[in-house]
Parts: sequence; structure tokens; C-alpha cells
Amino acid sequence: MITIRRATADDVSTVRALMRELAEHQNQGAEVRVSAGRLEELLNRPDIGYLIAERGGRAIGYVSWVKRVSLWTGQDYLALDDLYVCSGERGAGVGERLMRAVSEAAEGRVVRWEVAEANVAAQRFYQRIGATVVSKKICRWQVAPFPGRPARAGEAEGR
Ligand SMILES: CC(C)(COP(=O)(O)OP(=O)(O)OC[C@H]1O[C@@H](n2cnc3c(N)ncnc32)[C@H](O)[C@@H]1OP(=O)(O)O)[C@@H](O)C(=O)NCCC(=O)NCCS
Repeated sequence: MITIRRATADDVSTVRALMRELAEHQNQGAEVRVSAGRLEELLNRPDIGYLIAERGGRAIGYVSWVKRVSLWTGQDYLALDDLYVCSGERGAGVGERLMRAVSEAAEGRVVRWEVAEANVAAQRFYQRIGATVVSKKICRWQVAPFPGRPARAGEAEGR
């Protein structure tokens, strides 16, 4: 039987193993560097959601999100972080169960997330559950000394 439940601080090692599995699936295994203590702190935060799917008590997938606010609408929304089902468990409705659980947690709020352009199978899955998929570029900025001329005094404050 498949069950979906919220992760707790006791699930830190399971959560880290699941995230590492997704990261490795995306050739980014080394990116999962979070410490056990920090992860425990994050799982306890009220603005972070993490659901684990289990079959017979064994973790087989997860979905995670962060609550955010849109300054344009003034409304909260859920920003999905990850959705993952372990490879031998795909195509059996687990992903759909996880997204259904997200829809319940959303309580009417909009849910937004990113999907790689190349991940057409996941895009088809998202469209099938009723999501709209639009293309946009993602910028990632590892902040370093700002390129170009230095700001004049007062410029950064808008004076
Ligand atoms: C995308 C994913 C979460 C869907 O979970 P799932 O449990 O396989 O989904 P379901 O069984 O509820 O639905 C199956 C649908 O998912 C799609 N799907 C995507 N990748 C799949 C895969 N590797 N195997 C089987 N189905 C897959 C299928 O196209 C199917 O849609 P269809 O019925 O229209 O063909 C899962 O395949 C997965 O974890 N993929 C790898 C990680 C990933 O791409 N995550 C999304 C990042 S944005």
C-alpha cells in the first residue's frame, strides 16, 4: 500500500538520501551538501513542506516546496522545489498521488515550479494533471564583485 506523509525531523537521513537520488538522476549529486542539523532545522520550518511517499513503510518518492509571496498579487503561493519517484516505482501513479497531496496542502493557492526544457516526460505529466507549462530562462547568480564600474556614493540607495 502506498501512503503519503509529512516528513519530520526523524526523517533527516531518508530525506537526504531521496534528495541525493534525484540530484544524481540529474547528474548533480555533489550539490546535495546540506548537513543533518541544517536539514532538521529546515524540515521544522512552517514555510517548508516535505512529503514522503512510502510503499510498505519504504520511502519511494517525495515532493517538497517553500511558501512564497507574490508582491504583484499580494498572495501566497507554493514554490515546488522537487518532485521525485524512485526509478522502479515510476508510471504507477505515485507522482500523481504526491501532486494531489500538494494540491490539498495548497488550499487554493497557486503552485509554481521549474522543469528542465529537456524533461519532456515530466512536462507531459504536469500537463496531464492540469498545470500550464511556459518557457522562461533561469538566472543563477553566485554573487561576486559586481562587474563593470563601481557604484557612485548614494547610487545604490537610489539618491
Ligand atoms: C516525473 C515523475 C515524478 C512522475 O512520477 P510517476 O510516479 O512516474 O508519475 P505517474 O505514475 O503518476 O504518472 C506517469 C506519468 O509520468 C510520466 N513520466 C515521466 N517520467 C517517467 C518515467 N521515468 N517513467 C514512467 N513515467 C514517467 C509518464 O509520461 C506518465 O505520463 P503519461 O501517463 O501521460 O505517459 C517521475 O517520473 C520522476 O520522478 N521522474 C524523475 C525525476 C523528475 O523528472 N522529476 C521532475 C522534475 S521537475
